[in-house]
Amino acid sequence: MANDNSKTSSQSGRLQAIISHCKEYGFVFPGSEIYDGLQAVYDYGQWGSELKKNIKDYWWKSMTQLQENIVGIDAAIFMHPTTWKASGHVDNFNDPMIDNKDSKKRYRVDHLIEGYADMLKAESKVQEAEKILSDMDSLVAKDDFEGLKKLIVDNKIKCSISGTCNWTDIRQFNLMFSTEFGSTENAEGEFNKVYLRPETAQGIFVNFLNVQKTGRMKIPFGIAQTGKAFRNEIVARQFIFRMREFEQMEMQFFIRPGTQKEWYERWKETRMNWHLSLGISKDKYRFHDHVKLAHYADAACDIEYEFPIGFKEVEGIHSRTDFDLKNHQEYSKKKMQYFDNDVDPATGKPYGNYIPYVIETSIGLDRMFLLLMCEAYTEEDLSTPEKQDSRVVLKFPPVLAPVKLAVLPLVKKDGLPEIARKIMDDCKASFRCFYEEKDTIGKRYRRMDALGTPFCVTVDQQTKEDNTVTIRHRDSMHQDRIAINDVKKIVMSAII
Ligand code: GAP
Repeated sequence: MANDNSKTSSQSGRLQAIISHCKEYGFVFPGSEIYDGLQAVYDYGQWGSELKKNIKDYWWKSMTQLQENIVGIDAAIFMHPTTWKASGHVDNFNDPMIDNKDSKKRYRVDHLIEGYADMLKAESKVQEAEKILSDMDSLVAKDDFEGLKKLIVDNKIKCSISGTCNWTDIRQFNLMFSTEFGSTENAEGEFNKVYLRPETAQGIFVNFLNVQKTGRMKIPFGIAQTGKAFRNEIVARQFIFRMREFEQMEMQFFIRPGTQKEWYERWKETRMNWHLSLGISKDKYRFHDHVKLAHYADAACDIEYEFPIGFKEVEGIHSRTDFDLKNHQEYSKKKMQYFDNDVDPATGKPYGNYIPYVIETSIGLDRMFLLLMCEAYTEEDLSTPEKQDSRVVLKFPPVLAPVKLAVLPLVKKDGLPEIARKIMDDCKASFRCFYEEKDTIGKRYRRMDALGTPFCVTVDQQTKEDNTVTIRHRDSMHQDRIAINDVKKIVMSAII
């Protein structure tokens, strides 16, 4: 996928252009827009939901269908409240926050400092920015809130609203949403509190033995799941990058204790290759090792992509040890052990009973959507000496494009719509097609470019004579004459 962004020079301008394009062409709308929106909540429109589904299917196929030892599940969003006690989310799923006393605006401390570092970088003070970020990393790793506040005050980091440095102390803030379950009160006169899951992973852990036993799975094996997750993000910004309701695609891979380093490296490589399989340049990606590990991990890294707002996390690879299964065993009093009858060469005896270790791969579907939008969005200058011209085209990999084929009769008469309808009928059960007969053919091509449709076929007068149509390729705009009978085959071969 190429990027020729002659019109939009600055990177933040580029993000703004992508956000506008998403709205104008039915990809993403602000949530509850008629009521002026709901902060950090977005709705996917007619083409956005198709793109999202295609990304999810592409992930699901590569993580389940193509992996003989990984199966998928679909667990409920609501889980028993003790789940979140056992997982550590009730006690540890916090972010350090700081409030500006003048504007009353609350900031996540790391975001406030990162924003300041970005500003320094924009002023070419790269070394200064790197120093602040590395100081922040070491203070965060030690949970040194006084030190973090001092870093903010010493650097005179200001609130973007009040413009002052009048800060409160730093406090922890839990990110889980809660609600009440059922309509009856318990003995203490309280409603039963349940949480909206902040990650899909726990639905996999609590079903670990159900799947292992009913699926007769042998370690190493994985369980995959996609679904909604909810976090009460304080600083929710940058479009769909950080939302309060979002979707995750997660896989927990259960392994023998002691093999976690090897599997962690293998999954890092496998997941990076998945990203590269979409034709995205390697230079746009990097790994970022976590300095401060989450409460459940003994190693963790992010796969970061270079968004217009800089390198940011798209996916996390975590070595979660036996933390989750061990805690669920303790809190539920149900055994979470696996019996491994393979022989340990060191002892000559079966490995026996143990709680498996876990490597997790966790990617945000919405972030992957934004990544693909950023990668695909291209403004092209097509001017000639005679005429000024340009187009916006979304150069999606064909397998992910919301519409694969547009069928366009050149005119609305002479039997051309009828032939075009027959092509639609032949293709629409196999992939998403779009029929349009309004406007000039040039305008229709541009609309299809803006949706990222890889192929357009045009039915014209010659079609009636020799059963051929023109096929136009989105990226090159090259046109070929092909037999109607070949249309489906050509599209199918590009989207597998
Ligand atoms: N189960 C592990 C876990 O949830 P995480 O790093 O907190 O790990 C995994 O989240 C992925 O979920 C992230 O890499 C990101 O792509 C996505 N994600 C997390 N918070 C998000 C948010 N507020 N909005 C959109 N995506 C988010």
